[in-house]
Amino acid sequence: MSKPKDNPMDNILSLAKRRGFVFPGSEIYGGLANSWDYGPVGSLLKKNIKDLWWKMFVESREDVVGIDASLLMNTKVWEASGHLKEFSDPLVECKKCHGRFREDNLEGDKCPSCGEKESFTEAKQFNLMLKTFLGPAEEEANQVYFRPETAQAMFVDFKNVLQTTRVKVPFGIAQMGKAFRNEITPGNFIFRTREFEQMEIEYFVKEKEWAEHFEHWRQAMWQWMEAVGIDEKMVHELEIPDGERAHYSKRTIDFEFDYPFGRKELYGLAYRTDFDLKNHEKGSGQNLKYRDPETNEEFLPHVIEPTWGVDRTILAVLVSAYTEDGDRVFLKLPPRIAPYKAMISPLLANKPELVKMAKEIFDDLKTEFSLAWDDRGNIGKRYYAQDEIGTPYCITVDFDSLENKEVTIRDRDTGTQSRVPINELRTFLRTGVWGEAHSQK
Ligand code: GAP
Repeated sequence: MSKPKDNPMDNILSLAKRRGFVFPGSEIYGGLANSWDYGPVGSLLKKNIKDLWWKMFVESREDVVGIDASLLMNTKVWEASGHLKEFSDPLVECKKCHGRFREDNLEGDKCPSCGEKESFTEAKQFNLMLKTFLGPAEEEANQVYFRPETAQAMFVDFKNVLQTTRVKVPFGIAQMGKAFRNEITPGNFIFRTREFEQMEIEYFVKEKEWAEHFEHWRQAMWQWMEAVGIDEKMVHELEIPDGERAHYSKRTIDFEFDYPFGRKELYGLAYRTDFDLKNHEKGSGQNLKYRDPETNEEFLPHVIEPTWGVDRTILAVLVSAYTEDGDRVFLKLPPRIAPYKAMISPLLANKPELVKMAKEIFDDLKTEFSLAWDDRGNIGKRYYAQDEIGTPYCITVDFDSLENKEVTIRDRDTGTQSRVPINELRTFLRTGVWGEAHSQK
C-alpha cells in the first residue's frame, strides 16, 4: 500500500499514474513536454463527464442543439474572429538562460528558471494559434490553424443550424472537442496544455435580454459543478474588469478553483455580444441574421457563452474527490461519473462454483453498467484498489451466496457491508448510480 504524501498535488499525480487515470504522453520515448494520455480508467472518467454534460445541456433541453465540427477551419474564420490579430500573450525572455515566460504569470523580477534578477527582455505579443500545413507543400497558401476554441464553429455553422432545425431565439448550439493553443508556459499537469478539450455553448439571445440569460447560465454552471462533484467551497467567481477581458467580451465571470498549486481559472462565462456573428457576416459576405417568426424582424442575435474545460474539470473533480481516512485513500466520485459502477468478484479465485456465480452476475449486469472484475489477491487489496479509482460498490460472491442467493455489497464511502439478493442487484445499482428515479426503470 502506498502511503499518502503531504503534498496534495503529488498525491493526485501519483494516484493518476498508479491507477491508470493519466500517463505522461509518449513516455517510452522520453515523453513530449506537457502532453498527457488518459489511461483505461481516466478515459472512462472523461467519457462519463462528457456524457453527463451532453445529457444535462443538450439532450435534456429543448433549446440547445449540438454539432461536431472540424478541428481545422478556413483561415478566414480566424481573421474574422480576431484570433489572428488578438489572441496572444505577452512573452518575455530571460537574457541569461533564454527561458521564455508569460509576463503576466511572473511573480516578482526573478527568472523562475535560473533565478537571475531583472534579466527579462521587453515583452512582445506572442500569438497562440497552432499552425500546420494541408497537403504536401509547406507553403503559405497551404497553412492552416488548429482551432483555439470550439466556439467559432457554432457561429460559422449558425446559418446551417437555423436552416436544418426548428430552433428559435433564445437557443444554444453546443459542442465539445479538442482545441489547441501554443501556450508559452504550459504546466501544472493537465491544467494548462497545448492540446486540450472544451465543452462550450453559444447561446443566442435578443440583445435586451442578455443579462437574464447570463444569470441563467451562471446558475446552470453552479448546478453542473454540483452534479459532477466539484467541491463548491473551492470555487470562486471572479468578475473580470474592463481592459482585462478577451477581445470579444463585454462581461466575463471566471469560475476559479483552489487547485493545490493556487487559485486559478476553471471555467468562464462571457457575454460575447454580436461580435462574432457581425464579423463573420462581414468576413463571409453572407447574411447571418435571424428572422423572428412572429414579428418578421431580422436581427443579429447576441451571445452568452458558458465554457468548460474538460481537463480542468477532471483535475478539479480528482482534487475534490480525493479523500484520506487513516490509511485508506478513496475517491469520493459521484457514482454517475465513476469509471466503474461496481466491482464483481468471487471471494476466492480457486473455487470454480464461486467464480461461475460471480461471472454470471458480471455478464448479466455488464450490459447496463460499466463493471470491474477482480479475483486477484485477498479481498482487502481488491477493495483498496477499487477505492482508489472511486468504484462506489464492491460485490462479492461467497459460500453463503451459493446457498441463499445473496451477495455482499460493500459501500466505498462508509466501508459498510450489507447483503442483497442477486435478483435485486440491478435495481440496487440503478438507484445507487442514477438515483431514485431510475430504480423503477
Ligand atoms: N470560447 C471561449 C474560450 O475559449 P477560454 O477562457 O480561453 O475561453 C475556456 O477557455 C476554457 O478552456 C477555460 O476556462 C479552461 O477550462 C479551458 N482551457 C483554456 N486553455 C486551456 C489550456 N491551455 N489547457 C487546458 N484547458 C484550457
